[in-house]
Amino acid sequence: MTDFLVLGSGSLARVVCYSLAAVATRPIRVTVVGRDASVVGEIGQVSRVRAATGGNPVTFRGITLPTWRTEDLASVVAEVVPDAVLLCASTQSPWEGTARPSAWTEFTRRAGFGVTLPFHVELAEAAARAVAEAAPDSLFLNAAFPDAVNPVLSALGIPVFAGIGNVAVLAAAARARLAEDAEAGELAMLAHHLHLHAPANPDHEAVVYVAGKRVPAVPLLEAQRRVRRQEANQVTGLSAARTLFDVVGDATVHTHLPGPMGRPGGYPVTVGSRRIALRLPAGVTEDDAVAANQVWAEQDSVSVERDRIRFTGAAATMLPELGPDVPVEFPVRDLAEVRAALSRHRELLRGRGPDDFRTRVV
Ligand SMILES: NC(=O)c1ccc[n+]([C@@H]2O[C@H](COP(=O)([O-])OP(=O)(O)OC[C@H]3O[C@@H](n4cnc5c(N)ncnc54)[C@H](OP(=O)(O)O)[C@@H]3O)[C@@H](O)[C@H]2O)c1
Repeated sequence: MTDFLVLGSGSLARVVCYSLAAVATRPIRVTVVGRDASVVGEIGQVSRVRAATGGNPVTFRGITLPTWRTEDLASVVAEVVPDAVLLCASTQSPWEGTARPSAWTEFTRRAGFGVTLPFHVELAEAAARAVAEAAPDSLFLNAAFPDAVNPVLSALGIPVFAGIGNVAVLAAAARARLAEDAEAGELAMLAHHLHLHAPANPDHEAVVYVAGKRVPAVPLLEAQRRVRRQEANQVTGLSAARTLFDVVGDATVHTHLPGPMGRPGGYPVTVGSRRIALRLPAGVTEDDAVAANQVWAEQDSVSVERDRIRFTGAAATMLPELGPDVPVEFPVRDLAEVRAALSRHRELLRGRGPDDFRTRVV
């Protein structure tokens, strides 16, 4: 029996559970953890019925956890002792801009996604510490902005196996496009969270190799980039479910993942038997691959190098406009303090409309 622990009950956790229910071919037990008992119950119910519909050997149970401090999460991890844990929760919802537009969501839209890094680290750090403490043999995978959060976890000395989504979704989109070409060989893609959309500068496009030859990325990615985020989640959830199976399975699987062992950005990798290794095209070194992802990170408004976090681009220009308490560059050990300051600004900006932000600050 394989045990998976899914932390979160939002849109991504939901589609991950539904995908696990639909694709499991060997016995698995899924424990889903959320703050709201009725939501957790509904995810479990729908997942069980999906599994029964497909005749798949999956069982689901829910745990309601009102507070998510490391010690709370560690007690759940110790109870389950999962083979793998997937964090699908964040104190910054990706849906806030559509659900509750405000001066804050306008600020993040203009400053770039990277400016929300401190919030995506918050639960990832608590969960990763909980796993390290309570079940150190469990693999910890993180869905919350793994391209930048996983390097932060590494800098804090907390083990992280990999992320899910992002490059995995882009590579799946490329494979779907290449499936129309019977001659296409193996795909290897280097891509960052940035590449979910076309980068402002085409020189910063993702790097794609097919059968060992560099090919243009845009024709392989443009159709997926037009897909609305809610719909893209259908791919992310299935891809994450596949990843969970693959990392604990015995086969060596060629795939793509963000943040492998805490590296920045996304890479071609092999996974299986609880291990992960880079699978770079001939002529591309690990240093080259990491350096490319660091350049892309800067275009995504935040880079993490060794033990320092640096906001870049529009974020670096706009953060000082909020006040002197959110530095543009700081050591990872100061992250909680920076997050507290940014959180105070977030609360203030949430109280104002998006137009208010535009006229007041810009
Ligand atoms: N890697 C990828 O490709 C990819 C794709 C999609 C999303 N994501 C990321 O995955 C994360 C979740 O996305 P989503 O679409 O599921 O977001 P969502 O629907 O907004 O769900 C957010 C989840 O976080 C929980 N949460 C928020 N504050 C919390 C707190 N203080 N303590 C405990 N739990 C808390 C929410 O619980 P409540 O419902 O109880 O508030 C909910 O379960 C985000 O970081 C998002 O950016 C990554």
